[in-house]
Amino acid sequence: HEFALVVVAAGRGERAGSPANGPKQYRLIGGWPVIARTLVTFLDHPGCGDIVVVIHPDDEALYAKAVGGLKGLDRVRTVFGGATRQASVRAGLQALSATSLQHVLIHDAVRPFVSHAIIDDVLEALKAGHSAALPAVAVADTLKRGDASGCIAGTVPRDGVFGAQTPQGFGYAEIAAAHARAEAETETAFTDDCAIAEWAGLNVRLTPGHASNVKLTTSGDIAMADEKLAPARL
Ligand code: C5P
Repeated sequence: HEFALVVVAAGRGERAGSPANGPKQYRLIGGWPVIARTLVTFLDHPGCGDIVVVIHPDDEALYAKAVGGLKGLDRVRTVFGGATRQASVRAGLQALSATSLQHVLIHDAVRPFVSHAIIDDVLEALKAGHSAALPAVAVADTLKRGDASGCIAGTVPRDGVFGAQTPQGFGYAEIAAAHARAEAETETAFTDDCAIAEWAGLNVRLTPGHASNVKLTTSGDIAMADEKLAPARL
């Protein structure tokens, strides 16, 4: 297999209105749990080997119900996550450490519209020798900085500015070492794994992301995704 995969799904999803509606990775879009749609794309990818899904200890039953019936689950293990995304990723990486692997992809469970094209471009960059690769999309909106009074403090040049998506890909040994060092040596809260790679001095390659590879964050995002997948109505 070309790569192992860590899918982080241990977040509480407060911004999506949880806990009333449950964490967003288990909500239904087009009749499927978000996390099932995410996993199917990787399970169907010919290069994908072992998968570790990082879940919250409270979500074992939700997870089992969400993935029940998917093909290829014998390749999928679960471990419990931590208080931050960073801690959850570290738990996932540690669960893989017994195996001898070269490349690992790290993906947010709440990005169900990931495609094989996005995955393949990340893999290609790793195979070309980059230590890390990140699917990115050029920012389309004009960017403003606000001040404390709610007025505009300035316009931020958007030339060369990208939105960072997942899956982010790494040499396994390199990202595992960078995560271990980050935990031991800094209080910085990193919001993605490439930020840890950058901090550790790794070279990170930008690869083509896609506007549809959104991170479902709010209840509105879930509703939009559901609408997008619903059969066309007359
Ligand atoms: O919170 P954020 O939007 O950055 O979450 C991105 C992904 O990280 C989600 O799939 C979420 O479930 C996961 N996460 C996690 N453990 C945390 C926080 C977030 O696995 N403690």
